[in-house]
Amino acid sequence: MDPWRRTGLKSPASSSCFGIPVPPSSSYHGMIQTTLAILMLALCLPAAQAAGDPRAGKAAFERKCASCHKVGPAARSSFGPRLNGVVGRKAGAVGDYQYSSAMRSSGIVWSDKTLAAFLRDPERVVPGNRMRFWGIGSAQQIDDLLAYLRQFD
Ligand code: HEC
Repeated sequence: MDPWRRTGLKSPASSSCFGIPVPPSSSYHGMIQTTLAILMLALCLPAAQAAGDPRAGKAAFERKCASCHKVGPAARSSFGPRLNGVVGRKAGAVGDYQYSSAMRSSGIVWSDKTLAAFLRDPERVVPGNRMRFWGIGSAQQIDDLLAYLRQFD
């Protein structure tokens, strides 16, 4: 258990990419700069994952998702499938929920990346799915939601 998660504070490692700007790769030193940029991205990826604030995520979940989804030890599927353990499971896999065939046959495994893309634009990621939701424009809010959802197995 990551102790920072409980406090709702940001982990110190998450300070945005150590403040190093990623250089453009179109100049004379393009190759070196591209390599550097990839290295920096690799360094920044774990930090980006830790950047969500689960307390802000809980508030966002209650505002935007809870009318259709339940999460937590006693959660059942309701209008939407329950979201316990959603990070890491296959799309359309909760036994007590009748998914659309679009969702069941999407072949997606929910990860931080696929969930972020889905929450940004559900219809683009799983065309024909039954979740009536406009999508979330804020990357920070998506990170917060994922930090919250990751707490439930
Ligand atoms: C208006 C109701 C509604 C709202 C609001 C809503 N959802 Fe959904 N969601 C659904 C339905 C219905 C499905 C099942 C879609 C299908 O079977 O095509 C679904 C599916 C999902 C799935 C796929 C689950 C799985 O088991 O594969 C995820 C993840 C998800 N929703 C997350 C969210 C999150 C996070 C929010 C809030 C930001 C949210 N949803 C808001 C109705 C909703």
